[in-house]
Amino acid sequence: MNLARKTMNAPALAAVYERAWRPTVFYLASGRTTAADRRDAVATLRLRGPQKVLDIACGPGNFTKYLSKALSGDGYAVGVDYSAPMLARAVADNAGPRVGYLRGDARTLPFADETFDAVCCFGALYLIPDPLTAAREMIRVLAPGGRIAITTSHRADNPIGDMSRVIGGWSGLRVFDAKTFPTLFADNGLVEIDQRIHRMLQYVSATKPA
Ligand SMILES: C[S@@+](CC[C@H](N)C(=O)[O-])C[C@H]1O[C@@H](n2cnc3c(N)ncnc32)[C@H](O)[C@@H]1O
Repeated sequence: MNLARKTMNAPALAAVYERAWRPTVFYLASGRTTAADRRDAVATLRLRGPQKVLDIACGPGNFTKYLSKALSGDGYAVGVDYSAPMLARAVADNAGPRVGYLRGDARTLPFADETFDAVCCFGALYLIPDPLTAAREMIRVLAPGGRIAITTSHRADNPIGDMSRVIGGWSGLRVFDAKTFPTLFADNGLVEIDQRIHRMLQYVSATKPA
């Protein structure tokens, strides 16, 4: 297991992730606040009413519960993560009437095809050994007409980008170019593909045709 994956499995990180680690690290990487990321996630996924939402690599549930608050009726959000310490924090800190958590691997999701109206994976594809397999799993479980959204690393085409790739390689974090995910989404038939780049992070969303 590489350094980045070991760090994510550490109980000490799970304890500080939501309040300190995420707001600081993501702000430095993107210039964006977690509050802005949360608001944009609800808008981008077009959450409303009785939808079923899947938050992959949910960590301590810091997005899962927020997303669930945009739902009503029979709507719910499920967070999946493989780190037991992260899920323990999720249950302790981010439980709610429309939220559930499940231990699982993003590369082999335990759900039938086309189960969810919205599927997201924020801040994790760069940690997963087969990120494209995980992205294809997201598309598989997404219902027709549903929305998908990811936030992951971005390598700028300049010396800073080259440096981020070296540091990423050393720690075990993948650094993606701007084409990988839009191309994968298009090759899998998704439409309305939108990509926003904020410094070292990219935000990509799309729709599965109805
Ligand atoms: C940086 S946290 C992201 C938490 C949250 N989504 C956010 O944006 O703040 C990354 C999470 O990915 C999880 N993770 C990494 N590889 C995974 C995999 N193959 N399957 C499920 N979860 C995974 C880690 O356990 C960790 O909780």
